[in-house]
Amino acid sequence: NKDTVVLGIETSCDETSASVVKNGKAVLSNVIYSQINIHKKFGGVVPEIASRNHIEVIGNVVKEALDEASITLDDIDVVAVTYGPGLVGALLVGLSYGKALAYGKGIPFVGVNHIEGHISANYLDGDFEPPFICLIASGGHSHIVFVKDYGEYEVLGRTVDDAAGEAFDKVARALGLGYPGGPKIDEISKNGDPYKYNFPKSFMEKDNFDFSFSGLKTAVINQLHKERQNGNEVNIADYAASFQMNVVDVLSSKLIEAARYKNINKISIAGGVASNSLLRERLLKLADEEGFMIHFPKQVYCTDNGAMIASAGYFDYIRGKVSGLDLNAIPYLKL
Ligand code: KG4
Ligand code: ZN
Repeated sequence: NKDTVVLGIETSCDETSASVVKNGKAVLSNVIYSQINIHKKFGGVVPEIASRNHIEVIGNVVKEALDEASITLDDIDVVAVTYGPGLVGALLVGLSYGKALAYGKGIPFVGVNHIEGHISANYLDGDFEPPFICLIASGGHSHIVFVKDYGEYEVLGRTVDDAAGEAFDKVARALGLGYPGGPKIDEISKNGDPYKYNFPKSFMEKDNFDFSFSGLKTAVINQLHKERQNGNEVNIADYAASFQMNVVDVLSSKLIEAARYKNINKISIAGGVASNSLLRERLLKLADEEGFMIHFPKQVYCTDNGAMIASAGYFDYIRGKVSGLDLNAIPYLKL
């Protein structure tokens, strides 16, 4: 019954992160180096620049994670690293680094699916446990998943085009709000009228848990162009608020419907969009009204981080799932 201390490493996109987590839940450290300021001027993540920056900082990020946890490499039992989905060059940096550490120390290495990592953020610093229905909405993914047990998933729905976060980013860009768009839209929407525009919603028929956000994005952009062409003064906050409300309506109602469909009364959210304040507010209200138990991971565990990877890696490890050192990065890895 010895504790298991996992070093989690995440480099799938533009965050270089390393964390130390004990027994899948207790976060001893969580160091996140964000490249947002570097990519901001390009309006999005530039893959080649991301890889190079990961290489430059990963050594220090891992060292800081160990220092903050007041331990050394000798105290690490398992190394867990994201191997997909994500940008291939970015993934390879963390993966090679983590494999080398595990090989050098002669300890097990576990490759983690990034989406599984987002789900596992729900286990950090608390006692939330499966089974539950989870909405994962990030820059790259939108899924509704039935989490039957640790490491056991049934995907109930997914996006057929853009991910929810991608829609936030693209609409924010069209509105001139900059990158990343999610937090900007969240903020400016507080001053806008969410009922000003009634944009279309996709796949709202019963028992359909898939998403589509590209039609919504196009509708927002077309409306904006039309008003501008007519010489109207446009209120960006109204656009942001109406768009955000549309996405929150769709995400929250599908999550609740999926829980009903599966007859599960615990729900949770994960991924960058899970930090959206209107989404949290709406889900709290719905869960309260309809008798669901809802769990939100801390905001810092919603966007990309090493702690969620360490947690997922821990639950894989204790179930006997370890990876070979020949594991490659898989950019389009599915859950
Ligand atoms: O999970 P994440 O950090 O990275 C991926 O795995 O993609 O998610 C990043 C995404 C971005 O699209 C960002 O705009 C969105 O999450 N996001 C938000 C908010 N904070 C981040 N979207 C809506 N509201 C927010 N407050
Ligand atoms: Zn992510």
